[in-house]
Amino acid sequence: MRIVVLVSGTGSNLQAVIDAVQAGDLDVEIAAVGADRPGTYGVERSAAAGIDTFVVDFKAYPDRAEWNAALTEAVAAYLPDVVVSSGFMRIVSPEFIDAFDGKYLNTHPALLPSFPGAHGVRDAMAYGVKVTGCTVHWADAGVDTGPIIAQEAVAIEDDDTEDTLHERIKVVERRLLVSTLASLAAAYAPQ
Ligand code: GAR
Repeated sequence: MRIVVLVSGTGSNLQAVIDAVQAGDLDVEIAAVGADRPGTYGVERSAAAGIDTFVVDFKAYPDRAEWNAALTEAVAAYLPDVVVSSGFMRIVSPEFIDAFDGKYLNTHPALLPSFPGAHGVRDAMAYGVKVTGCTVHWADAGVDTGPIIAQEAVAIEDDDTEDTLHERIKVVERRLLVSTLASLAAAYAPQ
């Protein structure tokens, strides 16, 4: 199974995928890693791992439609079976999702459909829930919406900050992303 991973930042979830592939624990080919802006650590660490990288800079396009078209073309060039949004903080168009037959996987640091958006951890804490978690799902063109594949709960402790909670969620999130990709890859393996 060939994947293209999209990132906007640190890419620690991506690193878990890279590590699992390198360890021989995940039968996936990371065809490329792309970002929506220059200078992300996610792209830097991918290049260091010898993975093809590309940037389709959101700010370099006159409007969202043109950026979406350019992103679609850049990703499609790698002929992925699945595209993974791993901390990719941009909404893509329905045309993008269609171009990859809906095979657009997203991870989110909350128990969707609660607390979608860019601040899932902060919003859960602000609401005062005692349990949050993470979700891996097939993404549609909404904000963190689409059919859920896997979820796991994480308890919020009284002394948690957004950072400490997010880090604990990410530990679970990385494991869930890798295991979800492993299940999907098994379905792609030659019979
Ligand atoms: C992850 O927790 C991911 O779920 C979140 O960004 C973080 C990226 O971390 N994505 C969203 O909030 C999407 N709405 P990473 O760059 O260290 O992998």
